[in-house]
Amino acid sequence: MKKEIQKIIAEALKMMQEEKILSAFDFKEIRVDLNSRLQFGHYSSNIAFVLSKRLNKSVDEIASIIIKNIEGLDEGQYFEKIEVKNGFLNFFLSSKILFKNFRKILKQKTNYGSRPINNKKVAVFDYSSPNIAKPFGIGHLRSTIVGYSLYTLYKFLGWHAVGDNHLGDWGTQFGKLIYQLKTKVLVDKTPKEQKQILSQITIQDLEKLYIDFHREAEQNPLLEEEGRKWFAALEQGDKEARRLWKFCVQVSMKEFDRIYGLLGVKFDYVLSESFYENKLKNVLKELQVKKLVTPSEGALIFDFSPLSLPPALVLKSDGATTYFLRDLTALKYRLDHFKPKLIVYEVGMDQKLYFEQLFEAAQRLGWLNGVKLVHVAHGLVRWPEGKFSTRKGLTIHLEEVLEEAQKKALTIIKASATGRGFSLKQQKLVAQKVGIGAIKYNFLSYHYASDIIFDWERILNLDGNSGPYLQYTLARCFSILDKGAKIKQDKRYSVNLSNDKFLIHPLELTLLSLFVKFEDILEEASEQFAPHLICNFAFQLAEEYNRFYQELPILKAATPEAQGFRLQLTMATNYLLQICFSLLGLEVLKKM
Ligand code: ARG
Repeated sequence: MKKEIQKIIAEALKMMQEEKILSAFDFKEIRVDLNSRLQFGHYSSNIAFVLSKRLNKSVDEIASIIIKNIEGLDEGQYFEKIEVKNGFLNFFLSSKILFKNFRKILKQKTNYGSRPINNKKVAVFDYSSPNIAKPFGIGHLRSTIVGYSLYTLYKFLGWHAVGDNHLGDWGTQFGKLIYQLKTKVLVDKTPKEQKQILSQITIQDLEKLYIDFHREAEQNPLLEEEGRKWFAALEQGDKEARRLWKFCVQVSMKEFDRIYGLLGVKFDYVLSESFYENKLKNVLKELQVKKLVTPSEGALIFDFSPLSLPPALVLKSDGATTYFLRDLTALKYRLDHFKPKLIVYEVGMDQKLYFEQLFEAAQRLGWLNGVKLVHVAHGLVRWPEGKFSTRKGLTIHLEEVLEEAQKKALTIIKASATGRGFSLKQQKLVAQKVGIGAIKYNFLSYHYASDIIFDWERILNLDGNSGPYLQYTLARCFSILDKGAKIKQDKRYSVNLSNDKFLIHPLELTLLSLFVKFEDILEEASEQFAPHLICNFAFQLAEEYNRFYQELPILKAATPEAQGFRLQLTMATNYLLQICFSLLGLEVLKKM
């Protein structure tokens, strides 16, 4: 819709050019915005303001010329009216357009707004990417959820999306861990005993070893040296180091997969940092040939001067490879292998500078040729007291958070009228879907860059902007449609929508007006990498639908037309909410 309005404005400006009121003008400058409040129309534009400055005329004068031109072109097809307020042109769409869109939703159902896949438009999404043997913290949870939602959205919009989990399965932490295993766990044990012990080690044990290492290293800095040595052994292919490394990866991966299963998150690839091990050399060589690295105190660095970016470490002084070099190599591989137009990294804000370095390096290497690289840098997740921290062992483990969510959801379900009718098994199943959905939705409902204060009240609030509230509203739609379907057999369930002259209630109009924005919301969410815009929309739709439901009889409407129309409004709401759910990864519950 936004693009249509831009086009119409462009036509009106062309008329001004013909009348010699306006000279050369770049039509890309025409901005059209969605209005959140209907009293100012569905869309608005600042174009009259922009032109008034340029042409040295009053806004009102320009506005009236544009409006006159549009009205001449449009003849009431698109717009019911166009108003000028505070320098803005406010566009009120005609009911004809609103109904046309409404019919389209009813026809296309949950495919409404989707686009057929275009294999030339490839986008790679790097999300989750936890580190093995370090805790899978709440920040990784945020990356997992936001990244996967973006991946899903791009797919829906016709992109060939590639999801890759850049697992941190290489690096100095493995040296530390191997040292711990060797000296604390496996020391003085026969091979048979070792096997027995290893088979019982969990990811929590590995995390604890890692945390203990750092605690001890504070007292005894020599430990760091031991860790370095073991990592060097690993990189040089030492058999024992490899064996223990593999073991750690397997233990962790099993756990991560369980969490991904619980969250309903998928990847196309888990290429992992270790995948690039044998490809690092070529990139290193290219860096040297292009004279982009310089020796510094035995190490090798990428110097970004004259930019004020600090240098990046490419190789450490002991020859160990770095996260940066592995990332550069991964980037090169993705460019060559997937031929993307876009690569999105969903990684915490604490790596902002790092990604600036990475992107700048790729640019200087001459790799990009217009490929867009984006760091979707998410903010912190805090408890009301402070940040989650991994090293100090203060992490509130993901597992606990997810379990707590399900427990709390179960209490709510047991207290609800419908929920009481479920068997305990059903209650638990619903609680899982509600609890996990609540966390996911909560994370998605913030702009990715904002900090999140973890707040159970908000997460599970049945009357607010929360997953459970939306699930509840969608279940309501299902139940009404279910009852409505019985009426359908009475043959009263049909309305001739081409006759859109019948009187529409303002609450019905509000729903139609929300529907018409949906495609633009998806577009904006994808352009801005901002799933929270979809949350906002879904929440607004749910609120307006509930208001409509409270105020107006649906199944008991006075006329068959009104009844049919309201059922169809329910149906369209149901479709749009279902689309939002699939983009946000919320489970649909028909009863709640
Ligand atoms: N493993 C890293 C961490 O936990 C995140 C990796 C993000 N992706 C990347 N290509 N650097 O900090």
